Amino acid sequence: MIRRDIVSIKDLTKEEILSVLVRAKEIKTTPPGPILKGTIMASCFFEPSTRTRLSFESAMKRLGGEVIGFSDGQSTSAKKGESLYDTMKVIGELADCIVLRHPLEGAARQAAEATDTPVINGGDGANEHPTQTLCDLFTIQECQRKLEGLNIALVGDLKFGRTVHSLVLALAHFNCRLFFVSPASLAMPDGLLESLRSQGVPFSFHGSLEEVIDRADILYMTRIQTERLSDSLEQEKSFVLTPALLQKGKESLKVLHPLPRVDEIAREVDKMPQAHYFTQAKNGLYVRQALLTMVLGS
Ligand code: CP
Repeated sequence: MIRRDIVSIKDLTKEEILSVLVRAKEIKTTPPGPILKGTIMASCFFEPSTRTRLSFESAMKRLGGEVIGFSDGQSTSAKKGESLYDTMKVIGELADCIVLRHPLEGAARQAAEATDTPVINGGDGANEHPTQTLCDLFTIQECQRKLEGLNIALVGDLKFGRTVHSLVLALAHFNCRLFFVSPASLAMPDGLLESLRSQGVPFSFHGSLEEVIDRADILYMTRIQTERLSDSLEQEKSFVLTPALLQKGKESLKVLHPLPRVDEIAREVDKMPQAHYFTQAKNGLYVRQALLTMVLGS
Protein backbone atom coordinates (compact mmCIF):
# COMPACT_ATOMS: atom_id res chain seq x y z
CA MET A 1 0.00 0.00 0.00
CA ILE A 2 3.06 2.29 -0.04
CA ARG A 3 2.35 5.62 -1.77
CA ARG A 4 -1.12 4.40 -2.87
CA ASP A 5 -4.19 6.64 -3.14
CA ILE A 6 -7.11 5.57 -0.95
CA VAL A 7 -9.98 7.21 -2.82
CA SER A 8 -12.57 4.43 -2.64
CA ILE A 9 -12.82 1.42 -0.36
CA LYS A 10 -12.73 -0.50 -3.66
CA ASP A 11 -9.07 0.57 -3.96
CA LEU A 12 -8.31 -1.99 -1.23
CA THR A 13 -8.57 -5.76 -1.58
CA LYS A 14 -10.06 -7.83 1.23
CA GLU A 15 -6.53 -8.84 2.25
CA GLU A 16 -5.40 -5.19 2.33
CA ILE A 17 -8.42 -4.21 4.43
CA LEU A 18 -7.64 -7.00 6.88
CA SER A 19 -3.97 -5.98 6.99
CA VAL A 20 -4.98 -2.43 8.01
CA LEU A 21 -7.13 -3.89 10.80
CA VAL A 22 -4.26 -6.07 12.01
CA ARG A 23 -1.87 -3.08 12.03
CA ALA A 24 -4.47 -0.96 13.85
CA LYS A 25 -4.84 -3.64 16.52
CA GLU A 26 -1.06 -3.73 16.99
CA ILE A 27 -0.98 0.05 17.31
CA LYS A 28 -3.88 0.07 19.77
CA THR A 29 -2.09 -2.53 21.90
CA THR A 30 1.44 -1.14 21.54
CA PRO A 31 1.80 2.49 20.42
CA PRO A 32 4.70 2.54 17.95
CA GLY A 33 6.30 5.90 18.79
CA PRO A 34 7.63 8.49 16.31
CA ILE A 35 8.15 6.24 13.28
CA LEU A 36 6.95 8.88 10.80
CA LYS A 37 9.38 11.57 11.99
CA GLY A 38 10.39 13.75 9.06
CA THR A 39 7.17 13.25 7.07
CA ILE A 40 4.41 15.79 6.45
CA MET A 41 0.67 15.21 6.04
CA ALA A 42 -1.47 17.91 4.38
CA SER A 43 -4.88 18.04 6.04
CA CYS A 44 -7.17 19.71 3.47
CA PHE A 45 -10.75 20.07 4.70
CA PHE A 46 -13.15 22.00 2.47
CA GLU A 47 -16.09 20.72 4.59
CA PRO A 48 -16.66 20.65 8.37
CA SER A 49 -15.26 17.71 10.32
CA THR A 50 -14.49 16.83 13.91
CA ARG A 51 -13.44 13.17 13.95
CA THR A 52 -11.85 12.62 10.56
CA ARG A 53 -9.68 15.73 10.59
CA LEU A 54 -8.63 15.64 14.22
CA SER A 55 -8.03 11.89 14.33
CA PHE A 56 -5.85 12.05 11.20
CA GLU A 57 -3.94 15.02 12.63
CA SER A 58 -3.56 13.37 16.02
CA ALA A 59 -2.51 10.11 14.34
CA MET A 60 0.21 11.86 12.35
CA LYS A 61 1.51 13.77 15.37
CA ARG A 62 1.54 10.67 17.59
CA LEU A 63 3.65 8.99 14.90
CA GLY A 64 6.15 11.87 15.03
CA GLY A 65 5.09 13.46 11.73
CA GLU A 66 4.14 17.05 10.94
CA VAL A 67 0.78 18.42 9.80
CA ILE A 68 0.04 21.34 7.48
CA GLY A 69 -3.34 22.32 6.10
CA PHE A 70 -6.63 24.05 6.63
CA SER A 71 -10.08 23.34 8.00
CA ASP A 72 -11.94 25.89 5.87
CA GLY A 73 -11.58 26.06 2.09
CA GLN A 74 -12.63 29.72 2.25
CA SER A 75 -9.21 30.53 3.74
CA THR A 76 -7.43 29.14 0.66
CA SER A 77 -6.95 30.49 -2.85
CA ALA A 78 -9.96 28.42 -3.91
CA LYS A 79 -11.82 31.52 -2.72
CA LYS A 80 -10.02 33.44 -5.52
CA GLY A 81 -11.14 30.87 -8.08
CA GLU A 82 -8.23 28.40 -8.05
CA SER A 83 -9.31 24.93 -9.20
CA LEU A 84 -9.13 21.88 -6.94
CA TYR A 85 -6.77 20.34 -9.51
CA ASP A 86 -4.25 23.19 -9.23
CA THR A 87 -4.61 23.38 -5.46
CA MET A 88 -3.85 19.67 -5.07
CA LYS A 89 -0.98 19.80 -7.58
CA VAL A 90 0.72 22.47 -5.48
CA ILE A 91 0.00 20.88 -2.09
CA GLY A 92 1.31 17.58 -3.45
CA GLU A 93 4.74 19.24 -3.75
CA LEU A 94 4.62 20.34 -0.11
CA ALA A 95 3.58 17.16 1.69
CA ASP A 96 4.14 13.39 1.69
CA CYS A 97 0.42 12.63 1.71
CA ILE A 98 -2.84 14.55 1.43
CA VAL A 99 -6.02 13.89 3.39
CA LEU A 100 -8.89 15.58 1.55
CA ARG A 101 -12.48 16.25 2.48
CA HIS A 102 -14.56 18.04 -0.12
CA PRO A 103 -18.30 18.57 -0.78
CA LEU A 104 -18.10 17.36 -4.40
CA GLU A 105 -18.44 13.69 -5.33
CA GLY A 106 -15.32 12.65 -7.20
CA ALA A 107 -13.13 15.38 -5.67
CA ALA A 108 -10.69 12.87 -4.17
CA ARG A 109 -10.28 11.09 -7.52
CA GLN A 110 -9.65 14.44 -9.20
CA ALA A 111 -7.03 15.28 -6.54
CA ALA A 112 -5.34 11.91 -7.06
CA GLU A 113 -5.07 12.68 -10.77
CA ALA A 114 -3.48 16.05 -10.03
CA THR A 115 -0.54 14.78 -7.98
CA ASP A 116 1.68 11.73 -7.49
CA THR A 117 1.53 12.31 -3.73
CA PRO A 118 -0.87 9.80 -2.10
CA VAL A 119 -4.38 11.17 -1.60
CA ILE A 120 -6.58 9.75 1.15
CA ASN A 121 -10.28 10.47 0.77
CA GLY A 122 -11.67 11.91 4.01
CA GLY A 123 -15.16 12.09 2.47
CA ASP A 124 -16.20 13.39 -0.95
CA GLY A 125 -19.76 14.68 -0.99
CA ALA A 126 -22.33 11.91 -0.83
CA ASN A 127 -19.97 9.47 -2.52
CA GLU A 128 -17.58 7.62 -0.19
CA HIS A 129 -15.73 7.76 3.13
CA PRO A 130 -13.32 4.80 2.97
CA THR A 131 -11.33 5.49 6.13
CA GLN A 132 -14.56 5.63 8.16
CA THR A 133 -15.30 2.15 6.82
CA LEU A 134 -11.95 0.90 8.10
CA CYS A 135 -12.86 2.31 11.55
CA ASP A 136 -16.29 0.65 11.28
CA LEU A 137 -14.86 -2.75 10.34
CA PHE A 138 -12.24 -2.54 13.08
CA THR A 139 -14.96 -1.80 15.64
CA ILE A 140 -17.30 -4.52 14.35
CA GLN A 141 -14.47 -7.05 14.54
CA GLU A 142 -13.59 -5.85 18.04
CA CYS A 143 -17.11 -5.96 19.46
CA GLN A 144 -18.44 -9.05 17.63
CA ARG A 145 -15.11 -10.95 17.49
CA LYS A 146 -15.62 -11.53 13.74
CA LEU A 147 -16.55 -9.88 10.46
CA GLU A 148 -17.91 -12.88 8.59
CA GLY A 149 -21.59 -13.83 8.44
CA LEU A 150 -23.12 -11.01 10.47
CA ASN A 151 -26.62 -9.53 10.09
CA ILE A 152 -26.07 -5.80 9.68
CA ALA A 153 -28.86 -3.20 9.65
CA LEU A 154 -27.99 0.18 8.12
CA VAL A 155 -30.41 2.84 9.26
CA GLY A 156 -31.21 6.43 8.25
CA ASP A 157 -30.01 8.36 5.23
CA LEU A 158 -28.72 5.65 2.90
CA LYS A 159 -28.90 7.90 -0.15
CA PHE A 160 -26.59 10.74 0.84
CA GLY A 161 -24.71 9.00 3.68
CA ARG A 162 -21.23 8.38 2.28
CA THR A 163 -20.21 6.19 5.21
CA VAL A 164 -22.82 3.56 4.38
CA HIS A 165 -21.83 3.59 0.70
CA SER A 166 -18.24 2.62 1.47
CA LEU A 167 -19.31 0.26 4.25
CA VAL A 168 -21.64 -1.90 2.14
CA LEU A 169 -18.97 -2.24 -0.55
CA ALA A 170 -16.55 -3.51 2.09
CA LEU A 171 -19.09 -5.80 3.76
CA ALA A 172 -19.56 -7.55 0.41
CA HIS A 173 -16.23 -9.31 1.20
CA PHE A 174 -17.54 -10.78 4.44
CA ASN A 175 -20.71 -12.75 3.65
CA CYS A 176 -22.91 -10.40 5.65
CA ARG A 177 -26.70 -10.12 5.33
CA LEU A 178 -27.78 -6.48 5.00
CA PHE A 179 -31.02 -4.78 6.10
CA PHE A 180 -31.60 -1.30 4.65
CA VAL A 181 -33.85 0.79 6.93
CA SER A 182 -34.65 4.22 5.50
CA PRO A 183 -37.40 6.48 4.24
CA ALA A 184 -38.16 5.58 0.59
CA SER A 185 -36.78 8.96 -0.50
CA LEU A 186 -33.42 8.22 1.14
CA ALA A 187 -32.88 4.67 -0.08
CA MET A 188 -29.53 3.16 -1.04
CA PRO A 189 -28.59 4.30 -4.59
CA ASP A 190 -29.33 1.89 -7.45
CA GLY A 191 -25.70 1.69 -8.56
CA LEU A 192 -24.64 0.33 -5.18
CA LEU A 193 -27.56 -2.11 -5.08
CA GLU A 194 -26.52 -3.40 -8.49
CA SER A 195 -22.96 -3.88 -7.27
CA LEU A 196 -24.20 -5.84 -4.23
CA ARG A 197 -26.49 -7.99 -6.39
CA SER A 198 -23.66 -8.84 -8.76
CA GLN A 199 -21.60 -10.02 -5.78
CA GLY A 200 -24.45 -12.10 -4.38
CA VAL A 201 -24.87 -10.04 -1.20
CA PRO A 202 -28.33 -10.67 0.36
CA PHE A 203 -30.23 -7.51 1.33
CA SER A 204 -33.77 -6.27 1.96
CA PHE A 205 -35.57 -2.96 2.47
CA HIS A 206 -37.46 -1.89 5.59
CA GLY A 207 -39.52 1.07 6.74
CA SER A 208 -38.87 0.87 10.48
CA LEU A 209 -36.33 -0.31 13.03
CA GLU A 210 -38.93 -2.61 14.60
CA GLU A 211 -38.91 -4.77 11.46
CA VAL A 212 -35.24 -5.73 11.83
CA ILE A 213 -34.06 -5.14 15.38
CA ASP A 214 -34.53 -8.72 16.60
CA ARG A 215 -32.42 -10.10 13.73
CA ALA A 216 -29.50 -7.65 13.70
CA ASP A 217 -26.01 -8.27 15.11
CA ILE A 218 -24.99 -4.70 14.25
CA LEU A 219 -27.25 -1.66 14.09
CA TYR A 220 -25.43 1.02 12.07
CA MET A 221 -27.30 4.27 12.70
CA THR A 222 -26.77 7.39 10.58
CA ARG A 223 -28.09 10.93 10.63
CA ILE A 224 -30.10 12.54 7.85
CA GLN A 225 -27.58 14.53 5.76
CA THR A 226 -29.59 17.76 5.83
CA GLU A 227 -26.72 19.68 4.24
CA ARG A 228 -27.23 17.63 1.05
CA LEU A 229 -31.04 18.04 0.89
CA SER A 230 -32.68 20.94 -0.90
CA ASP A 231 -35.54 20.87 1.64
CA SER A 232 -34.94 19.66 5.16
CA LEU A 233 -36.58 16.32 5.85
CA GLU A 234 -38.10 15.73 9.24
CA GLN A 235 -36.51 12.82 11.08
CA GLU A 236 -39.10 10.08 11.24
CA LYS A 237 -39.87 8.59 14.64
CA SER A 238 -39.31 5.08 13.26
CA PHE A 239 -35.60 5.82 12.84
CA VAL A 240 -34.89 6.96 16.39
CA LEU A 241 -33.22 4.35 18.59
CA THR A 242 -34.48 4.36 22.19
CA PRO A 243 -33.59 2.10 25.16
CA ALA A 244 -37.05 0.49 24.91
CA LEU A 245 -36.49 -0.39 21.27
CA LEU A 246 -33.00 -1.69 21.97
CA GLN A 247 -34.40 -4.12 24.54
CA LYS A 248 -36.13 -5.91 21.64
CA GLY A 249 -32.77 -6.74 20.05
CA LYS A 250 -30.47 -9.72 20.65
CA GLU A 251 -28.37 -9.62 23.80
CA SER A 252 -25.28 -9.53 21.59
CA LEU A 253 -26.52 -6.63 19.42
CA LYS A 254 -24.07 -3.72 19.11
CA VAL A 255 -24.90 -0.18 18.00
CA LEU A 256 -22.54 1.82 15.80
CA HIS A 257 -22.82 5.33 14.37
CA PRO A 258 -20.14 7.20 12.40
CA LEU A 259 -21.20 10.36 14.24
CA PRO A 260 -22.02 13.21 14.42
CA ARG A 261 -25.32 12.19 16.02
CA VAL A 262 -28.24 14.58 15.82
CA ASP A 263 -31.27 12.91 17.43
CA GLU A 264 -31.36 9.43 15.90
CA ILE A 265 -30.01 7.77 19.06
CA ALA A 266 -31.48 8.78 22.42
CA ARG A 267 -28.78 9.92 24.88
CA GLU A 268 -29.92 7.24 27.38
CA VAL A 269 -28.64 4.59 24.96
CA ASP A 270 -25.06 5.83 25.51
CA LYS A 271 -24.89 4.11 28.90
CA MET A 272 -26.13 0.76 27.59
CA PRO A 273 -23.69 -2.08 26.86
CA GLN A 274 -24.84 -2.20 23.23
CA ALA A 275 -23.51 1.32 22.55
CA HIS A 276 -20.16 1.23 20.74
CA TYR A 277 -20.19 4.48 18.77
CA PHE A 278 -17.82 6.44 20.98
CA THR A 279 -15.38 3.52 20.98
CA GLN A 280 -15.79 3.49 17.20
CA ALA A 281 -14.78 7.18 17.07
CA LYS A 282 -11.77 6.52 19.35
CA ASN A 283 -10.71 3.60 17.14
CA GLY A 284 -10.37 6.13 14.32
CA LEU A 285 -7.07 7.16 15.84
CA TYR A 286 -5.56 3.66 15.65
CA VAL A 287 -6.97 2.87 12.23
CA ARG A 288 -5.71 6.15 10.78
CA GLN A 289 -2.30 5.64 12.38
CA ALA A 290 -2.20 2.21 10.74
CA LEU A 291 -3.19 3.63 7.35
CA LEU A 292 -0.61 6.42 7.51
CA THR A 293 2.22 4.00 8.36
CA MET A 294 1.19 1.74 5.49
CA VAL A 295 0.79 4.51 2.90
CA LEU A 296 3.92 6.36 3.99
CA GLY A 297 5.88 3.15 4.16
CA SER A 298 7.04 2.79 7.74
N1 CP B 1 -17.58 10.31 10.96
C1 CP B 1 -17.15 11.48 10.45
O1 CP B 1 -16.75 11.58 9.28
O2 CP B 1 -17.16 12.51 11.34
P1 CP B 1 -16.69 13.99 11.02
O3 CP B 1 -17.61 14.56 10.00
O4 CP B 1 -16.74 14.71 12.34
O5 CP B 1 -15.28 13.91 10.47
